[in-house]
Amino acid sequence: NYTYEELNDYFENTLGINSIPNPIKYSLFADSDNYRIIQTASSNGSKPNKEAADQLKKDVGVAVSIYNTNIDDDNQMYSKTIYQNFNMVVAENEMKFDATEPSRNNFNYYNGDRLIKFAQRHNMKVRGHALCWHSQCPQWVSKDGYSNDKGWTKTELLAILKNHIFNVVKHFKGNICEWDVVNEVLDDSQSESGVNSGGYKMRNSVWYNVIGLEFLDSAFVWAHQADPDMDLYINDYSCDYANQTKAKAMYNLVKNLVKRKVPITGVGLQCHLGAGPGWVDSLNMVKNMKQYEELGLKCIITELDLGTSDTSERGLNIQADNYRTITNIFLNAKNSPHAIIWGVTDDKSWRSNERPLLFDANFNPKPAYFGVCNALKIKASKLGDANNDGSVNVNDITTIATYILNGTAYPFNFNNADANQDGIINVNDITSTASFILDNHLSKVGLGGGMFAVNE
Ligand code: XIL
Repeated sequence: NYTYEELNDYFENTLGINSIPNPIKYSLFADSDNYRIIQTASSNGSKPNKEAADQLKKDVGVAVSIYNTNIDDDNQMYSKTIYQNFNMVVAENEMKFDATEPSRNNFNYYNGDRLIKFAQRHNMKVRGHALCWHSQCPQWVSKDGYSNDKGWTKTELLAILKNHIFNVVKHFKGNICEWDVVNEVLDDSQSESGVNSGGYKMRNSVWYNVIGLEFLDSAFVWAHQADPDMDLYINDYSCDYANQTKAKAMYNLVKNLVKRKVPITGVGLQCHLGAGPGWVDSLNMVKNMKQYEELGLKCIITELDLGTSDTSERGLNIQADNYRTITNIFLNAKNSPHAIIWGVTDDKSWRSNERPLLFDANFNPKPAYFGVCNALKIKASKLGDANNDGSVNVNDITTIATYILNGTAYPFNFNNADANQDGIINVNDITSTASFILDNHLSKVGLGGGMFAVNE
């Protein structure tokens, strides 16, 4: 046990480093049984989790509302917030069936193309959403996406679907890396006995109703034929955790598609969830992603938003912690290349009364934003970078020293702080980190230190 003065003295006289700077400001909040920490939103413009994501070869994306915003203007706050923080975009509405084929065989790509241009200007990837869905299905196909009020025959409706997929996929070919081929095809109620014996119940959409299961296989095959390089996904909600009945149904359906060699790349988990203390069931989300990895498929997060009714500081911090947990799950899953957040600011969210996103109405980052950043930075950071600010410097020594003296330090990355990787955080890690800073020689970090140990 060393006093602050002793350590200060050690820094100054032995290491020749000026005194320990002021501790970094942090906010503390309590959840059900323990304290968790989220760095307070800073006003210094600290941005790019984009860099961390790039470094990790992961994409953190956002749904963009194109029809009612001016994304052609790079100086708008809306545009800036998107291209400064994310490396992938998806159209929130503008590439859906009703938007792209408003009347039969009459295609409209105006807003979709604006998004493509925006993404090209800022070096972002684009994912497509969605080719076949019961919702936002144009009136000329079905009045509500369920009933066959136009009296289509199976052959006619298959021809409509084929024409739509071929036209849309070919139009965006080369500019989009993947499509949600089918969206929300499973019924909301699935029987436990049915899913346990390998079954699943399809939603009674106009597509399934008139065509039968063939619509699903055909949609994937046609999308693949239209662009063989395209990654192809099935996307749905309430399939986020392996123990959900609908998630089991999804697994059964997808396993079947794989068995029949339908060209599918992976499964999209929408993740429209609620925020609350300990509400993210990490175990079951990890398990869910893992089971698709074992099938040789990807499993990505496609529409993440976490609604909350508690908008107190504590509530928003808990929301941030939930965001951090989910980001960690996606970063740690080998078969999960990206996670997309369903919108930019709370006020424009489809769940606006639940404040589910990362930015408030004025584009100020919420704690949730830092929850995502925090996870990205920790994952991308290096040994010795105890405070996760992206570089190893004297502030990390401060952080480690604070931890040794107080038993806590924030922000704090235990793994990085354990610079010599011996499993405990003690003065040897200060030595290792200091050696690294002074000599700028990476090989010294990890050797176990000892050279400058205070107690010798
Ligand atoms: C939502 C959009 O966010 C809204 O703007 C629109 O009015 C309705 O659709 N699942 C999906 C998304 O796959 O396309 C939906 O997006 C949200 C639920």
